[in-house]
Amino acid sequence: MTSGKRSRLVVLISGSGSNLQAFIDATKSNQLNADIVGVLSNKAGVLGLERAQNAGIPTEVLNHKAFADRASFDAELAERVASYQPDLVILAGFMRILTPEFVNRFAGHIMNIHPSLLPKYPGLHTHQRAIDAGDRKAGATVHFVTCDLDGGPAIIQAEVPILNGDTADTLASRILIQEHQIYPLAAQWYCEGKLRLQNGVPHLNDEALPDTGFPFSTAFTEQ
Ligand code: GRF
Repeated sequence: MTSGKRSRLVVLISGSGSNLQAFIDATKSNQLNADIVGVLSNKAGVLGLERAQNAGIPTEVLNHKAFADRASFDAELAERVASYQPDLVILAGFMRILTPEFVNRFAGHIMNIHPSLLPKYPGLHTHQRAIDAGDRKAGATVHFVTCDLDGGPAIIQAEVPILNGDTADTLASRILIQEHQIYPLAAQWYCEGKLRLQNGVPHLNDEALPDTGFPFSTAFTEQ
């Protein structure tokens, strides 16, 4: 997708959708030159669906429990996602492990955000794990999705301090503020044609990104 034309995004959620809200806000303010053409959730009744409906975005619920297995759920999910003809698929708190068939169908066009400084703490309970380890900093990473869970190549990473007395909840809130900045920014780079996955390595303006992605602290000044 080149600059000028608005890209088509599909967002997959399972929960509160605060990252989805950041995308909705960024598209409305034109910080993100894209339209969210569909939001799919594997859970009914979640706040993220309400956020999408309030913004006039078509929503669908695809309950994974109604499928015999992961493969059949993912096959149907892939069909539904593809029906929107997205330029980019955004995983925003989508709490399902995706099959290689799904990932490969959208390879290079699918991103996730993970609440840790990857490669540290893939998987769940990232905030508590960082606190328990005595880490002094934590953060979030946007990455391209590969078949390696939370292991795809990093695009951008934001750090926050871990403060004395932090709980998983206070740390998560501090990190979410950063998530809402870096995720739409990564998508905008992609939509502008500045960001591409080349031979498995994310390139920004034709330069390979470092293993931990673009460090967000300098992203503001480089824009
Ligand atoms: C975020 O912490 C994100 O990093 C993780 O799931 C959470 C989703 O939060 N993948 P929300 O639904 O966007 O509020």
